[in-house]
Amino acid sequence: MEDRIALKKHLSTKHLLGIKNITTDDINLIFTTADNFKEVLNRPIKKVPSLRDITVANLFFENSTRTRISFELAEKRLSADVVNFSASTSALKKGETLVDTVNNILAMKVDMVVMRHPNPGACVYLSKHIDVNIINAGDGAHEHPTQALLDAYSIREKLGDVKGKKVVIVGDILHSRVALSNIFCLQKLGAEVMVCGPTTLMPRHIGSLGVNVGHNLKEALEWCDVANMLRIQLERQEIKYFPSLREYTMMFGLNKEILDSLSKKITIMHPGPINRGVEITSDVADSDQSIILNQVENGVAIRMAILYLLAGKIEKSA
Ligand code: CP
Repeated sequence: MEDRIALKKHLSTKHLLGIKNITTDDINLIFTTADNFKEVLNRPIKKVPSLRDITVANLFFENSTRTRISFELAEKRLSADVVNFSASTSALKKGETLVDTVNNILAMKVDMVVMRHPNPGACVYLSKHIDVNIINAGDGAHEHPTQALLDAYSIREKLGDVKGKKVVIVGDILHSRVALSNIFCLQKLGAEVMVCGPTTLMPRHIGSLGVNVGHNLKEALEWCDVANMLRIQLERQEIKYFPSLREYTMMFGLNKEILDSLSKKITIMHPGPINRGVEITSDVADSDQSIILNQVENGVAIRMAILYLLAGKIEKSA
């Protein structure tokens, strides 16, 4: 395994700040590397020494369950040393800036930073001020690159290929970093993408990204091979974008009746966290058409691949 991956491939970039600026070759390299790590994760001993002597700091300035645990597991499976930072218990509350906080952590000899931040562009900003590799674990409504990679990887696993597939992303496109990163990733891999939701939750210029735009859930589901159902991000909404959650659910919620009425069996995805009964009912989320837990499982292999490939760019003196 170690030998196979050590065959010497690196990403074209020092950081993973978003999907927009990485290449299709980068994505395919991450996928083939993740294939190898997925095999490791199915062994009785799920650990390799690839990142021994590398220290990774997970800096989470915003809440997370899946991404944070997934990164920490990925780092530990690669034998990295791991430190976790949570904004709610930090000196940020005392007025310290982001760059000062991170530079103080780096002074303790950290090699890589994984960061989630509520502000769009926070990772790009940080990358201009610090010297270590940065992985964006979600920055505001901007990008969530590792989520998009694990989503596309899960489609590839389920359907054999991403190229030529039709994927609809349903819901709160306006506030969704998952939607933007998914659009970039799926298009780079040759999929056709539609976004579907209320007009008020569509960015005005979304059509300029080359996606189809729909407002009828049933039509969108008839069109697609895969439906990625997004959560309504109430925490990012300062005004009301629809009359009530009940009305949203009536128009854009996916239930078993709609799913079973379609002329073909589509694949159902959700990045989590799920609001059961709002954007998706429990019987759909837990159905055999759902790959939601496969997405979570694949997240660890994808993040191991990214950490491994970026670590190849770290120069350590003897
Ligand atoms: N999908 C995702 O980013 O989930 P968390 O917010 O729990 O990390």
